[in-house]
Amino acid sequence: MSSCNMFTNWHCFTLWWCYVLQFSKPITSEEGKDLGLVDAVVPSDELLKASRQWALDIIERRKPWIRSLHRIDKLGSLPEVVAIIKTARQQAKQSFKNLPQHQACLDVIEEGIIHGGYHGILKESRVFKDLISTDTSKGLVHAFFSQRAASKVPNVSDIGLKPRKIMKVAVIGGGLMGSGIATSLILSDIYVILKEINSKYLLKGIKAIEGNVRGLDVDMVIEAVVENIHLKQKIFADNEKACSRHCILASNTSTIDLNIIGEKTKSQDRIIGAHFFSPAHVMPLLEIVRTEKTSAQVILDLMTVGKIIKKVPVVVGNCTGFAVNRAFFPYSQSAHLLLHLGVDIFRIDQLISNFGIPLGPFQLQDVAGYGVVVATTEIFSISFPDRTFQSPLVPLLLKNGRNGKNNGKGYYIYEKGSKPKPDPSVLPIIEESRRTINIMPGGSLYLLRTMKLFR
Ligand SMILES: NC(=O)c1ccc[n+]([C@@H]2O[C@H](COP(=O)([O-])OP(=O)(O)OC[C@H]3O[C@@H](n4cnc5c(N)ncnc54)[C@H](O)[C@@H]3O)[C@@H](O)[C@H]2O)c1
Ligand SMILES: *[C@@H]1O[C@H](CO)[C@@H](O)[C@H](O)[C@H]1NC(C)=O
Repeated sequence: MSSCNMFTNWHCFTLWWCYVLQFSKPITSEEGKDLGLVDAVVPSDELLKASRQWALDIIERRKPWIRSLHRIDKLGSLPEVVAIIKTARQQAKQSFKNLPQHQACLDVIEEGIIHGGYHGILKESRVFKDLISTDTSKGLVHAFFSQRAASKVPNVSDIGLKPRKIMKVAVIGGGLMGSGIATSLILSDIYVILKEINSKYLLKGIKAIEGNVRGLDVDMVIEAVVENIHLKQKIFADNEKACSRHCILASNTSTIDLNIIGEKTKSQDRIIGAHFFSPAHVMPLLEIVRTEKTSAQVILDLMTVGKIIKKVPVVVGNCTGFAVNRAFFPYSQSAHLLLHLGVDIFRIDQLISNFGIPLGPFQLQDVAGYGVVVATTEIFSISFPDRTFQSPLVPLLLKNGRNGKNNGKGYYIYEKGSKPKPDPSVLPIIEESRRTINIMPGGSLYLLRTMKLFR
Protein backbone atom coordinates (compact mmCIF):
# COMPACT_ATOMS: atom_id res chain seq x y z
CA MET A 1 0.00 0.00 0.00
CA SER A 2 1.68 3.15 -1.08
CA SER A 3 1.10 6.41 0.70
CA CYS A 4 -1.57 7.35 -1.81
CA ASN A 5 -3.74 4.35 -0.99
CA MET A 6 -4.13 5.59 2.53
CA PHE A 7 -5.43 8.91 1.38
CA THR A 8 -8.53 9.68 -0.56
CA ASN A 9 -8.09 10.10 -4.32
CA TRP A 10 -8.51 13.76 -3.72
CA HIS A 11 -5.43 13.76 -1.58
CA CYS A 12 -3.47 11.93 -4.21
CA PHE A 13 -4.39 14.57 -6.69
CA THR A 14 -3.49 17.30 -4.26
CA LEU A 15 -0.11 15.75 -3.58
CA TRP A 16 0.53 15.81 -7.29
CA TRP A 17 -0.77 19.32 -7.52
CA CYS A 18 1.44 20.63 -4.73
CA TYR A 19 4.35 18.83 -6.35
CA VAL A 20 3.60 20.64 -9.60
CA LEU A 21 3.63 23.87 -7.68
CA GLN A 22 7.06 23.00 -6.32
CA PHE A 23 6.10 23.47 -2.72
CA SER A 24 5.70 20.09 -1.12
CA LYS A 25 8.08 17.29 -1.77
CA PRO A 26 6.96 13.82 -2.78
CA ILE A 27 7.96 11.00 -0.42
CA THR A 28 8.49 7.32 -1.11
CA SER A 29 6.21 4.62 0.31
CA GLU A 30 8.98 3.59 2.69
CA GLU A 31 9.32 7.13 4.02
CA GLY A 32 5.53 7.26 4.40
CA LYS A 33 5.65 4.07 6.41
CA ASP A 34 8.41 5.39 8.67
CA LEU A 35 6.35 8.55 9.25
CA GLY A 36 3.31 6.48 10.22
CA LEU A 37 1.23 7.66 7.24
CA VAL A 38 1.22 4.24 5.57
CA ASP A 39 0.37 0.89 7.18
CA ALA A 40 2.45 -1.38 4.99
CA VAL A 41 4.36 -1.44 1.73
CA VAL A 42 3.59 -4.41 -0.55
CA PRO A 43 4.16 -5.22 -4.24
CA SER A 44 1.31 -3.99 -6.44
CA ASP A 45 0.04 -7.50 -7.30
CA GLU A 46 -0.47 -8.21 -3.59
CA LEU A 47 -2.16 -4.92 -2.81
CA LEU A 48 -5.75 -6.22 -2.79
CA LYS A 49 -4.95 -9.33 -0.77
CA ALA A 50 -2.86 -7.45 1.77
CA SER A 51 -5.49 -4.71 2.13
CA ARG A 52 -8.26 -7.26 2.76
CA GLN A 53 -6.19 -8.99 5.39
CA TRP A 54 -5.35 -5.66 6.98
CA ALA A 55 -9.02 -4.67 7.11
CA LEU A 56 -9.92 -8.01 8.72
CA ASP A 57 -7.13 -7.58 11.24
CA ILE A 58 -8.49 -4.17 12.18
CA ILE A 59 -12.08 -5.41 12.55
CA GLU A 60 -10.99 -8.35 14.64
CA ARG A 61 -8.76 -6.07 16.67
CA ARG A 62 -5.54 -7.80 15.79
CA LYS A 63 -4.19 -4.50 14.55
CA PRO A 64 -4.98 -0.92 15.57
CA TRP A 65 -6.90 1.30 13.18
CA ILE A 66 -4.65 4.28 12.58
CA ARG A 67 -6.28 7.11 10.70
CA SER A 68 -3.48 9.31 9.47
CA LEU A 69 -5.84 12.24 9.01
CA HIS A 70 -6.38 12.41 12.75
CA ARG A 71 -2.84 11.83 13.88
CA ILE A 72 -1.43 14.76 15.82
CA ASP A 73 1.30 13.08 17.85
CA LYS A 74 4.06 14.64 15.77
CA LEU A 75 2.71 18.18 16.18
CA GLY A 76 4.21 20.42 18.83
CA SER A 77 2.12 22.68 21.06
CA LEU A 78 -0.28 25.04 19.30
CA PRO A 79 1.84 28.20 19.88
CA GLU A 80 4.86 26.35 18.50
CA VAL A 81 2.98 25.27 15.40
CA VAL A 82 1.57 28.74 14.81
CA ALA A 83 5.07 30.20 15.06
CA ILE A 84 6.42 27.66 12.54
CA ILE A 85 3.64 28.46 10.07
CA LYS A 86 4.28 32.15 10.50
CA THR A 87 7.95 31.68 9.64
CA ALA A 88 7.05 29.49 6.66
CA ARG A 89 4.70 32.24 5.45
CA GLN A 90 7.47 34.82 5.59
CA GLN A 91 9.90 32.52 3.78
CA ALA A 92 7.35 31.73 1.08
CA LYS A 93 6.59 35.41 0.69
CA GLN A 94 10.27 36.16 0.11
CA SER A 95 11.06 33.25 -2.19
CA PHE A 96 7.81 33.12 -4.13
CA LYS A 97 6.63 36.68 -4.34
CA ASN A 98 3.36 37.02 -6.27
CA LEU A 99 2.58 33.30 -6.24
CA PRO A 100 -0.63 32.55 -4.34
CA GLN A 101 -0.39 28.78 -3.88
CA HIS A 102 2.25 28.70 -1.15
CA GLN A 103 0.21 30.89 1.16
CA ALA A 104 -2.89 28.85 0.26
CA CYS A 105 -1.18 25.57 1.17
CA LEU A 106 -0.16 27.11 4.49
CA ASP A 107 -3.75 28.31 5.08
CA VAL A 108 -4.96 24.76 4.59
CA ILE A 109 -2.35 23.25 6.88
CA GLU A 110 -3.12 25.83 9.54
CA GLU A 111 -6.87 25.13 9.31
CA GLY A 112 -6.21 21.40 9.71
CA ILE A 113 -4.01 21.93 12.72
CA ILE A 114 -6.32 24.33 14.51
CA HIS A 115 -9.70 22.75 13.66
CA GLY A 116 -8.72 19.16 12.89
CA GLY A 117 -7.80 17.19 9.77
CA TYR A 118 -11.35 16.95 8.44
CA HIS A 119 -11.76 20.72 8.35
CA GLY A 120 -8.36 20.93 6.72
CA ILE A 121 -9.55 18.68 3.90
CA LEU A 122 -12.71 20.74 3.42
CA LYS A 123 -10.74 23.94 3.23
CA GLU A 124 -8.31 22.31 0.85
CA SER A 125 -11.09 21.44 -1.58
CA ARG A 126 -12.41 25.02 -1.51
CA VAL A 127 -9.00 26.62 -1.95
CA PHE A 128 -8.07 24.13 -4.64
CA LYS A 129 -11.16 24.96 -6.67
CA ASP A 130 -10.26 28.65 -6.57
CA LEU A 131 -6.60 28.21 -7.42
CA ILE A 132 -6.92 25.66 -10.19
CA SER A 133 -8.62 28.14 -12.49
CA THR A 134 -6.02 30.90 -12.08
CA ASP A 135 -3.54 31.87 -14.77
CA THR A 136 -0.73 31.02 -12.35
CA SER A 137 -1.96 27.45 -12.14
CA LYS A 138 -2.28 27.15 -15.91
CA GLY A 139 1.22 28.57 -16.34
CA LEU A 140 2.75 26.17 -13.82
CA VAL A 141 1.01 23.15 -15.31
CA HIS A 142 2.29 24.25 -18.70
CA ALA A 143 5.83 24.56 -17.32
CA PHE A 144 5.53 21.12 -15.69
CA PHE A 145 4.52 19.36 -18.90
CA SER A 146 7.03 21.36 -20.93
CA GLN A 147 9.82 20.17 -18.64
CA ARG A 148 8.73 16.59 -19.15
CA ALA A 149 8.40 17.04 -22.90
CA ALA A 150 11.93 18.45 -23.00
CA SER A 151 13.36 14.99 -22.35
CA LYS A 152 11.72 13.57 -25.50
CA VAL A 153 13.88 14.43 -28.50
CA PRO A 154 12.92 12.89 -31.85
CA ASN A 155 15.67 10.69 -33.34
CA VAL A 156 17.62 10.87 -30.07
CA SER A 157 15.60 9.57 -27.16
CA ASP A 158 13.31 7.29 -29.21
CA ILE A 159 15.73 5.17 -31.22
CA GLY A 160 16.73 2.65 -28.59
CA LEU A 161 20.06 4.21 -27.64
CA LYS A 162 21.38 3.56 -24.14
CA PRO A 163 23.19 6.39 -22.37
CA ARG A 164 26.87 5.64 -21.71
CA LYS A 165 28.27 5.97 -18.19
CA ILE A 166 29.91 9.33 -17.62
CA MET A 167 32.16 8.83 -14.61
CA LYS A 168 34.85 11.49 -15.00
CA VAL A 169 34.54 14.98 -16.41
CA ALA A 170 37.23 17.59 -17.00
CA VAL A 171 36.30 21.25 -16.62
CA ILE A 172 38.59 23.72 -18.36
CA GLY A 173 38.52 27.15 -16.72
CA GLY A 174 37.59 27.57 -13.09
CA GLY A 175 36.07 31.03 -13.18
CA LEU A 176 32.47 31.91 -12.37
CA MET A 177 30.92 29.25 -14.58
CA GLY A 178 33.60 26.56 -14.47
CA SER A 179 33.64 26.45 -10.69
CA GLY A 180 29.84 26.25 -10.57
CA ILE A 181 29.74 23.49 -13.16
CA ALA A 182 32.43 21.55 -11.28
CA THR A 183 30.45 21.95 -8.05
CA SER A 184 27.33 20.57 -9.73
CA LEU A 185 29.18 17.52 -10.99
CA ILE A 186 31.00 16.85 -7.73
CA LEU A 187 27.75 17.09 -5.78
CA SER A 188 26.45 14.23 -7.92
CA ASP A 189 29.56 12.12 -7.32
CA ILE A 190 31.02 12.63 -10.77
CA TYR A 191 34.80 12.75 -10.67
CA VAL A 192 36.03 16.18 -11.79
CA ILE A 193 39.37 17.43 -13.01
CA LEU A 194 39.62 21.21 -13.03
CA LYS A 195 42.16 22.92 -15.23
CA GLU A 196 43.15 26.55 -14.68
CA ILE A 197 45.86 29.05 -15.48
CA ASN A 198 45.05 32.01 -13.26
CA SER A 199 47.54 31.43 -10.48
CA LYS A 200 51.27 30.87 -10.79
CA TYR A 201 50.97 27.70 -8.79
CA LEU A 202 48.46 26.23 -11.19
CA LEU A 203 50.40 27.51 -14.17
CA LYS A 204 53.39 25.55 -12.99
CA GLY A 205 51.33 22.44 -12.54
CA ILE A 206 49.53 22.76 -15.87
CA LYS A 207 51.74 20.21 -17.65
CA ALA A 208 51.04 17.74 -14.89
CA ILE A 209 47.32 18.40 -15.12
CA GLU A 210 47.40 17.89 -18.89
CA GLY A 211 49.04 14.59 -18.12
CA ASN A 212 46.23 13.79 -15.71
CA VAL A 213 43.60 14.48 -18.34
CA ARG A 214 45.39 12.11 -20.69
CA GLY A 215 46.12 9.53 -18.01
CA LEU A 216 42.68 9.44 -16.45
CA ASP A 217 40.93 9.35 -19.80
CA VAL A 218 37.82 11.34 -19.00
CA ASP A 219 34.44 10.68 -20.62
CA MET A 220 33.60 14.32 -21.20
CA VAL A 221 35.38 17.69 -21.18
CA ILE A 222 33.41 20.85 -20.46
CA GLU A 223 35.25 23.97 -21.52
CA ALA A 224 34.32 27.11 -19.59
CA VAL A 225 37.16 29.54 -20.31
CA VAL A 226 36.62 33.18 -21.28
CA GLU A 227 34.43 33.86 -24.32
CA ASN A 228 37.22 33.95 -26.92
CA ILE A 229 36.93 32.10 -30.22
CA HIS A 230 40.64 31.44 -30.81
CA LEU A 231 41.26 30.25 -27.26
CA LYS A 232 38.29 27.89 -27.41
CA GLN A 233 39.35 26.52 -30.81
CA LYS A 234 42.82 25.82 -29.48
CA ILE A 235 41.47 24.13 -26.36
CA PHE A 236 39.16 21.93 -28.45
CA ALA A 237 42.01 20.91 -30.72
CA ASP A 238 44.18 20.13 -27.66
CA ASN A 239 41.38 18.19 -26.01
CA GLU A 240 40.79 16.14 -29.13
CA LYS A 241 44.44 15.06 -28.99
CA ALA A 242 44.56 14.55 -25.23
CA CYS A 243 41.34 12.58 -24.79
CA SER A 244 40.04 9.27 -26.08
CA ARG A 245 38.05 9.19 -29.29
CA HIS A 246 34.82 8.58 -27.37
CA CYS A 247 35.23 11.60 -25.14
CA ILE A 248 32.45 14.19 -25.43
CA LEU A 249 33.83 17.66 -26.19
CA ALA A 250 31.47 20.21 -24.67
CA SER A 251 31.57 23.99 -24.41
CA ASN A 252 29.75 26.28 -22.01
CA THR A 253 29.83 29.12 -24.52
CA SER A 254 26.90 31.53 -24.31
CA THR A 255 27.17 32.83 -27.84
CA ILE A 256 29.82 31.31 -30.08
CA ASP A 257 28.73 29.07 -32.95
CA LEU A 258 29.73 25.50 -31.98
CA ASN A 259 30.75 24.72 -35.55
CA ILE A 260 33.37 27.46 -35.25
CA ILE A 261 34.56 26.23 -31.84
CA GLY A 262 35.01 22.70 -33.22
CA GLU A 263 36.38 23.84 -36.58
CA LYS A 264 39.97 22.85 -35.79
CA THR A 265 39.03 19.28 -34.85
CA LYS A 266 38.03 16.23 -36.84
CA SER A 267 35.45 15.18 -34.28
CA GLN A 268 32.38 17.16 -35.30
CA ASP A 269 30.07 14.40 -34.07
CA ARG A 270 31.37 14.85 -30.50
CA ILE A 271 31.12 18.64 -30.34
CA ILE A 272 28.20 19.87 -28.24
CA GLY A 273 27.14 22.87 -26.17
CA ALA A 274 26.59 22.38 -22.43
CA HIS A 275 25.24 25.79 -21.60
CA PHE A 276 24.78 26.20 -17.86
CA PHE A 277 23.27 29.30 -16.29
CA SER A 278 24.75 31.31 -13.49
CA PRO A 279 25.02 30.30 -10.63
CA ALA A 280 25.61 26.97 -12.33
CA HIS A 281 25.25 24.81 -9.21
CA VAL A 282 21.87 26.39 -8.46
CA MET A 283 20.07 27.13 -11.73
CA PRO A 284 18.22 24.08 -13.03
CA LEU A 285 18.31 24.77 -16.76
CA LEU A 286 20.94 23.09 -18.95
CA GLU A 287 20.76 24.10 -22.59
CA ILE A 288 22.19 21.33 -24.75
CA VAL A 289 23.25 22.78 -28.07
CA ARG A 290 23.43 20.33 -30.96
CA THR A 291 24.95 21.07 -34.32
CA GLU A 292 23.92 19.34 -37.56
CA LYS A 293 26.72 16.86 -36.94
CA THR A 294 26.44 16.11 -33.22
CA SER A 295 25.63 12.41 -32.87
CA ALA A 296 22.43 11.21 -31.21
CA GLN A 297 24.55 9.21 -28.76
CA VAL A 298 26.43 12.31 -27.60
CA ILE A 299 23.18 14.27 -27.18
CA LEU A 300 21.61 11.44 -25.20
CA ASP A 301 24.71 11.08 -23.00
CA LEU A 302 24.73 14.77 -22.11
CA MET A 303 20.97 14.71 -21.43
CA THR A 304 21.60 11.83 -19.05
CA VAL A 305 24.42 13.62 -17.25
CA GLY A 306 22.09 16.62 -16.99
CA LYS A 307 19.47 14.49 -15.26
CA ILE A 308 22.04 12.87 -12.97
CA ILE A 309 23.19 16.27 -11.77
CA LYS A 310 19.52 17.27 -11.32
CA LYS A 311 19.28 19.78 -14.13
CA VAL A 312 16.51 20.16 -16.65
CA PRO A 313 18.27 19.45 -19.97
CA VAL A 314 16.70 21.11 -23.01
CA VAL A 315 18.05 20.26 -26.45
CA VAL A 316 18.24 23.25 -28.78
CA GLY A 317 19.71 24.13 -32.17
CA ASN A 318 23.01 25.89 -32.84
CA CYS A 319 21.98 29.44 -33.74
CA THR A 320 22.77 32.92 -32.44
CA GLY A 321 21.85 33.04 -28.76
CA PHE A 322 20.65 29.42 -28.84
CA ALA A 323 17.17 29.37 -27.29
CA VAL A 324 17.48 31.21 -24.01
CA ASN A 325 19.66 34.17 -24.88
CA ARG A 326 17.84 34.55 -28.17
CA ALA A 327 14.62 35.10 -26.23
CA PHE A 328 16.37 36.94 -23.44
CA PHE A 329 18.48 39.38 -25.44
CA PRO A 330 15.60 41.65 -26.52
CA TYR A 331 14.62 41.90 -22.86
CA SER A 332 17.98 43.26 -21.71
CA GLN A 333 18.13 45.39 -24.86
CA SER A 334 14.82 46.98 -23.90
CA ALA A 335 16.16 47.75 -20.45
CA HIS A 336 19.15 49.55 -21.97
CA LEU A 337 16.91 51.40 -24.43
CA LEU A 338 14.66 52.58 -21.61
CA LEU A 339 17.69 53.65 -19.63
CA HIS A 340 18.97 55.71 -22.54
CA LEU A 341 15.55 57.22 -23.02
CA GLY A 342 15.90 58.60 -19.51
CA VAL A 343 14.26 56.04 -17.22
CA ASP A 344 15.93 55.58 -13.84
CA ILE A 345 18.02 52.42 -13.82
CA PHE A 346 17.12 51.26 -10.31
CA ARG A 347 13.45 51.85 -10.98
CA ILE A 348 13.63 49.45 -13.93
CA ASP A 349 15.19 46.74 -11.75
CA GLN A 350 12.76 47.43 -8.93
CA LEU A 351 9.68 47.13 -11.16
CA ILE A 352 10.90 43.90 -12.71
CA SER A 353 11.59 42.32 -9.34
CA ASN A 354 8.22 43.51 -8.01
CA PHE A 355 6.75 41.66 -10.96
CA GLY A 356 8.26 38.46 -9.57
CA ILE A 357 11.54 38.00 -11.45
CA PRO A 358 14.25 37.59 -8.78
CA LEU A 359 16.82 39.94 -10.33
CA GLY A 360 16.23 42.99 -12.49
CA PRO A 361 18.03 43.15 -15.86
CA PHE A 362 20.86 45.36 -14.61
CA GLN A 363 21.53 43.41 -11.44
CA LEU A 364 21.60 40.30 -13.59
CA GLN A 365 24.35 41.83 -15.74
CA ASP A 366 26.28 42.53 -12.55
CA VAL A 367 25.98 38.87 -11.60
CA ALA A 368 26.85 37.53 -15.06
CA GLY A 369 29.90 39.78 -15.42
CA TYR A 370 30.35 42.47 -18.06
CA GLY A 371 32.70 40.41 -20.23
CA VAL A 372 29.86 38.06 -21.10
CA VAL A 373 27.52 41.00 -21.75
CA VAL A 374 29.96 42.61 -24.20
CA ALA A 375 30.62 39.30 -25.97
CA THR A 376 26.89 38.60 -26.32
CA THR A 377 26.13 42.06 -27.68
CA GLU A 378 28.92 41.68 -30.23
CA ILE A 379 27.61 38.35 -31.51
CA PHE A 380 24.04 39.65 -31.74
CA SER A 381 25.12 42.80 -33.54
CA ILE A 382 26.82 40.63 -36.18
CA SER A 383 23.76 38.40 -36.66
CA PHE A 384 21.15 41.15 -36.34
CA PRO A 385 22.90 44.43 -37.23
CA ASP A 386 19.66 46.34 -37.75
CA ARG A 387 18.04 45.13 -34.55
CA THR A 388 20.83 45.39 -32.02
CA PHE A 389 21.16 48.42 -29.77
CA GLN A 390 24.85 48.74 -29.00
CA SER A 391 24.59 50.33 -25.60
CA PRO A 392 27.83 52.16 -24.86
CA LEU A 393 27.20 51.80 -21.15
CA VAL A 394 28.80 48.44 -20.39
CA PRO A 395 32.07 49.24 -22.20
CA LEU A 396 32.13 52.55 -20.29
CA LEU A 397 31.66 50.71 -17.01
CA LEU A 398 34.52 48.35 -17.87
CA LYS A 399 36.71 51.35 -18.71
CA ASN A 400 35.82 52.69 -15.27
CA GLY A 401 37.27 49.55 -13.68
CA ARG A 402 33.94 47.93 -12.96
CA ASN A 403 33.07 44.32 -13.63
CA GLY A 404 29.86 43.80 -11.70
CA LYS A 405 29.57 41.58 -8.68
CA ASN A 406 32.77 39.78 -9.53
CA ASN A 407 34.96 42.75 -8.44
CA GLY A 408 32.35 44.25 -6.13
CA LYS A 409 31.78 47.23 -8.45
CA GLY A 410 28.74 47.23 -10.66
CA TYR A 411 25.48 49.11 -10.91
CA TYR A 412 25.21 48.01 -7.29
CA ILE A 413 27.64 47.93 -4.39
CA TYR A 414 28.36 44.42 -3.20
CA GLU A 415 29.52 43.99 0.36
CA LYS A 416 29.79 40.71 2.18
CA GLY A 417 26.78 39.96 4.32
CA SER A 418 24.54 42.79 3.12
CA LYS A 419 22.06 43.19 0.28
CA PRO A 420 23.38 44.85 -2.89
CA LYS A 421 22.81 48.62 -2.71
CA PRO A 422 22.36 50.92 -5.72
CA ASP A 423 25.66 52.65 -6.39
CA PRO A 424 25.13 56.39 -6.94
CA SER A 425 28.56 56.67 -8.55
CA VAL A 426 27.32 54.90 -11.71
CA LEU A 427 24.94 57.78 -12.45
CA PRO A 428 27.59 60.04 -14.06
CA ILE A 429 28.67 57.07 -16.23
CA ILE A 430 25.06 56.56 -17.28
CA GLU A 431 24.87 60.26 -18.16
CA GLU A 432 28.01 59.92 -20.25
CA SER A 433 26.53 56.91 -22.03
CA ARG A 434 23.32 58.84 -22.75
CA ARG A 435 25.35 61.72 -24.19
CA THR A 436 27.37 59.31 -26.34
CA ILE A 437 24.36 58.03 -28.22
CA ASN A 438 22.91 61.54 -28.21
CA ILE A 439 19.18 61.05 -28.17
CA MET A 440 17.78 64.47 -29.01
CA PRO A 441 14.83 65.79 -27.03
CA GLY A 442 11.77 64.32 -28.68
CA GLY A 443 14.04 62.03 -30.64
CA SER A 444 13.17 58.89 -28.76
CA LEU A 445 10.73 57.56 -31.31
CA TYR A 446 13.29 58.32 -33.98
CA LEU A 447 15.81 56.15 -32.15
CA LEU A 448 13.38 53.25 -31.87
CA ARG A 449 12.49 53.54 -35.55
CA THR A 450 16.13 53.55 -36.58
CA MET A 451 16.51 50.41 -34.56
CA LYS A 452 13.64 48.90 -36.56
CA LEU A 453 12.19 47.66 -33.29
CA PHE A 454 8.96 49.52 -33.93
CA ARG A 455 7.98 49.88 -37.54
N1 LIG B 1 28.81 34.50 -16.68
C1 LIG B 1 27.69 33.92 -17.05
O1 LIG B 1 26.61 34.23 -16.54
C2 LIG B 1 27.72 32.85 -18.11
C3 LIG B 1 26.55 32.09 -18.31
C4 LIG B 1 26.57 31.05 -19.24
C5 LIG B 1 27.71 30.80 -19.98
N2 LIG B 1 28.84 31.57 -19.80
C6 LIG B 1 30.03 31.24 -20.62
O2 LIG B 1 30.94 30.53 -19.79
C7 LIG B 1 32.27 30.77 -20.21
C8 LIG B 1 33.08 31.26 -19.01
O3 LIG B 1 32.49 32.42 -18.48
P1 LIG B 1 32.77 32.91 -16.97
O4 LIG B 1 31.72 33.92 -16.67
O5 LIG B 1 32.91 31.74 -16.07
O6 LIG B 1 34.19 33.64 -17.14
P2 LIG B 1 35.35 33.84 -16.02
O7 LIG B 1 36.21 34.91 -16.57
O8 LIG B 1 34.77 33.97 -14.66
O9 LIG B 1 36.15 32.45 -16.05
C9 LIG B 1 36.99 32.04 -17.08
C10 LIG B 1 38.17 31.28 -16.46
O10 LIG B 1 38.89 30.60 -17.51
C11 LIG B 1 40.27 30.61 -17.16
N3 LIG B 1 41.04 30.35 -18.36
C12 LIG B 1 41.33 31.20 -19.38
N4 LIG B 1 42.09 30.57 -20.29
C13 LIG B 1 42.25 29.29 -19.88
C14 LIG B 1 42.95 28.15 -20.40
N5 LIG B 1 43.60 28.21 -21.56
N6 LIG B 1 42.89 26.99 -19.70
C15 LIG B 1 42.22 26.94 -18.53
N7 LIG B 1 41.57 27.98 -17.99
C16 LIG B 1 41.57 29.14 -18.64
C17 LIG B 1 40.47 31.99 -16.55
O11 LIG B 1 41.63 32.00 -15.73
C18 LIG B 1 39.19 32.20 -15.75
O12 LIG B 1 39.32 31.77 -14.41
C19 LIG B 1 32.17 31.76 -21.36
O13 LIG B 1 32.22 31.04 -22.57
C20 LIG B 1 30.80 32.41 -21.16
O14 LIG B 1 30.23 32.88 -22.35
C21 LIG B 1 28.86 32.56 -18.86
C1 LIG C 1 14.28 11.41 -37.97
O1 LIG C 1 15.08 10.63 -38.83
C2 LIG C 1 14.42 10.26 -40.03
C3 LIG C 1 15.33 9.31 -40.79
O2 LIG C 1 16.65 9.80 -40.88
C4 LIG C 1 14.05 11.51 -40.83
O3 LIG C 1 13.34 11.17 -42.01
C5 LIG C 1 13.19 12.42 -39.96
O4 LIG C 1 12.93 13.65 -40.63
C6 LIG C 1 13.87 12.69 -38.63
N1 LIG C 1 12.94 13.43 -37.76
C7 LIG C 1 13.28 14.56 -37.16
C8 LIG C 1 12.20 15.19 -36.33
O5 LIG C 1 14.39 15.04 -37.23
